Amino acid sequence: MSIGRGADGGLEFDRDLSFANTLALPSRAEHFWHARTESGVGDGLELANAHGWPITVLGGGSNLLLPPAIGGLTLRADIEGVAFRQGRGDRVHVEVGAGVGWHALVEACVGRELWGVENLALIPGLAGAAPIQNIGAYGVELADVIDWVELVDRRDARMQRLDRDACDLGYRDSVFKRELADQVVITRLGLTLSTRPRPQLDYGVLRERVAATPSARDVFEAVCAIRREKLPDPIRTPNAGSFFKNPLVTAAVASRLLRQLPSMPHYPQSDGQVKLAAGWLIDQCGLKGRREGAFGVHDRQALVLVHFGGGTLEGLLAFADKLVDAVRERFGVVLEREPRRVDASGIYTPETGVGAPTIRASDG
Ligand code: EPU
Repeated sequence: MSIGRGADGGLEFDRDLSFANTLALPSRAEHFWHARTESGVGDGLELANAHGWPITVLGGGSNLLLPPAIGGLTLRADIEGVAFRQGRGDRVHVEVGAGVGWHALVEACVGRELWGVENLALIPGLAGAAPIQNIGAYGVELADVIDWVELVDRRDARMQRLDRDACDLGYRDSVFKRELADQVVITRLGLTLSTRPRPQLDYGVLRERVAATPSARDVFEAVCAIRREKLPDPIRTPNAGSFFKNPLVTAAVASRLLRQLPSMPHYPQSDGQVKLAAGWLIDQCGLKGRREGAFGVHDRQALVLVHFGGGTLEGLLAFADKLVDAVRERFGVVLEREPRRVDASGIYTPETGVGAPTIRASDG
């Protein structure tokens, strides 16, 4: 059901979100607001604030764990548009709306032979979500190309622009996961790319897959091919990409493990810590391809959990806990979850029911 539906969205009630999260977890939003402009975002926020509704912001839903029912207002900011502007020398500034598909943006940049985002091909999700976890793959992170992020403050619906430093981007981390978590809606990003070739081919097999002087499109196509070999397409096999972060351990822990397992992939960091490969650790526990009911470990990349259908968030978390326990017991390393869990806000009982436990405000 919906009311007030216009060019800039409107309010819908009891909206099914199973198609709005790439893990295809059953979920319903008590109220749903689909904004297509910054002022539409502001209208949705003002409506929620006037009613005292908690606010949940969805992007492409590719890195989220949704509960069966979300109370308050769930808002999606589908702001379109990509604009290119020539800067000084070889620089090109790109302004992109939060609702543009990340991969479509990469294709548009590669189509203009711009360098900077070709290694980030085929990452699911919308551009607006990219800064939250500082998306990264094949030796490149969003942090390498981002200039600014525009956002609307949830409390007063005012727009702001944060420069790159204020975003405080780190490995799968940013100010949007910490100090600004649940405070803002990202509406636009500014990137700086380059017309000068600057291939980043340090990641393992990437160099072997391209010519000696590749074009941005060559690198883009090699990345797409590598990803298609290893990672499941969320449209066919629901998943949220890496389910765990690659763990950081002390040099002493890494040396202890390397004495027992000399072939263990390990990546020393500038701060002295060592990053391990969570997928490798899970794989070594013999869990790659393991299926239990509705969920499983992907059979080509153990870092990715897949949903075969009919599962719930509770089932997924229980399955993930077993993997964490297995890795902890075998290696003494604790894996941290990567996708963000959305809070149910504890106040909503969907009328149509999704097999969810009923949550009432009086329950606490
Ligand atoms: N490995 C195994 N078995 C597995 C998986 C991995 O032995 O089942 C080994 C690989 O052979 C390799 C090492 O572990 O030696 C690392 O694997 P891979 O290169 O596939 O990358 P990853 O560390 O598992 C990270 C990102 C991916 C990103 C790739 C490529 C994280 C949490 N994940 O995975 O990002 O695409 O590097 O850069 O950092 C995502 O975040 O959703 C994502 C897919």
